[in-house]
Amino acid sequence: MLGGECIAHPNFSNIVDDIALLKSLGIKIILVYGARPQIEKALSEQGINSEFHHQQRITNDDSFDLIKQVVGRLQFEINALLSKGLVNTPMQGASINVVSGNFITAQPIGIKDGIDFCYTGKVRRVDTLGIQEQLAQNAIVLISIIGYSVTGESFNLSAEELATQLAIRLDADKMIGFCSEHGVLGEDGNVIAEMLPNQAQTRLDELEKHGQIMTGTAIYLRAAIASCKAGVSRSHLVSYQQDGSLLQELFSRDGIGTQIVMESAEQLRQATIEDIGGIVDLIKPLEEQGLLVRRSREQLEMEITLFTIVERDGLVIGCAALYPANDGISGEMACVATHPQYRKASRGDALVNEISKQATKLGISKLFVLTTSSIHWFRERGFEPGDITKLPVEKQALYNFQRNSKVLIKEL
Ligand SMILES: CC(C)(COP(=O)(O)OP(=O)(O)OC[C@H]1O[C@@H](n2cnc3c(N)ncnc32)[C@H](O)[C@@H]1OP(=O)(O)O)[C@@H](O)C(=O)NCCC(=O)NCCS
Repeated sequence: MLGGECIAHPNFSNIVDDIALLKSLGIKIILVYGARPQIEKALSEQGINSEFHHQQRITNDDSFDLIKQVVGRLQFEINALLSKGLVNTPMQGASINVVSGNFITAQPIGIKDGIDFCYTGKVRRVDTLGIQEQLAQNAIVLISIIGYSVTGESFNLSAEELATQLAIRLDADKMIGFCSEHGVLGEDGNVIAEMLPNQAQTRLDELEKHGQIMTGTAIYLRAAIASCKAGVSRSHLVSYQQDGSLLQELFSRDGIGTQIVMESAEQLRQATIEDIGGIVDLIKPLEEQGLLVRRSREQLEMEITLFTIVERDGLVIGCAALYPANDGISGEMACVATHPQYRKASRGDALVNEISKQATKLGISKLFVLTTSSIHWFRERGFEPGDITKLPVEKQALYNFQRNSKVLIKEL
């Protein structure tokens, strides 16, 4: 979803290069472009006063003529940029097919609150088959805001409605929008990396309350919430000002902008046999540093159901295990670890809480840990120093005096 502001920005040609790169990787791309600032400029140059009702333009004969000119010109410009080839890159010589057409059937909005919106329209049908055929032929499909009706008329549509409807009806993996900021900013001014649709709605309500109704962020949030609720699993918002932000958002694990997801990219859940590889990757370096007791893969396979993991985008970034003791009232929390790049974000806390909850369910009232270097960390989470005699007998027999771990116990 390329807004008119994005197209007007000097960084736009870099964005087009990045789009071309994505395309060369086999990613299927539909570009929907808007033209609000360009239309505003052209209208004011011609002295045409265009009226709005509820933030929606009323497209009369005069303004529509000009809108079509502006949109047509932008189409040529985007086509030209996509055709320029990627000189001085490894993709030099690669050519990109761009296809536009009558893929969108529109209908007039009609009369609302007694006001005739004339040529302002909405999406009626999307020729999904036609678009899919073009994508299968390796073309980029370029969609403008002009749609055509079955009566042979043209209508002025909104880029965000188009992008949303295309994403939903084509069952897209992602909808991507661009704004002047780095993403959706929170009240503290920092980018919010990930939002669920209801969190996005709360932020949108706040923005609207402050009068930010038609900003890039508000427009994107509305589109992302709608598409997410209709089954598009991810939407991203990145900056059009910063070179490379599109690629960084898509190809770095934590991204750089904001993503709106149907469900959180992060999950706290019981481990399965498929997670063993991920757990080994996480704990091996910690075992080598002597922070965790060594476990063989076979042992992990046997004990996998005792493990709880934090999974993020397919990577295991945290784990902990609960070993119930034979006495029926105690249990050991062991192998507590979070990935070094994901520490200090309360994931350790979440694991302790989850293991405590599981222990309580099993009737365990004494949760203990053996640790050499995280004594204070556990003490700050309600564990009290104990000694070996407080451990269940079978654990006392296995106690490794050389390791000399401290025993910490939490009454649940
Ligand atoms: C201990 C560990 C699980 C904490 O993970 P985490 O996801 O960062 O946990 P939280 O975000 O809930 O807690 C972070 C806080 O604990 C502190 N902390 C981290 N490790 C600590 C340690 N070994 N001793 C004391 N405090 C520690 C951090 O400084 C941070 O404090 P702050 O918020 O005041 O800055 C993680 O550091 C780890 O995997 N360590 C290596 C393995 C290990 O020692 N496991 C325990 C043995 S079973």
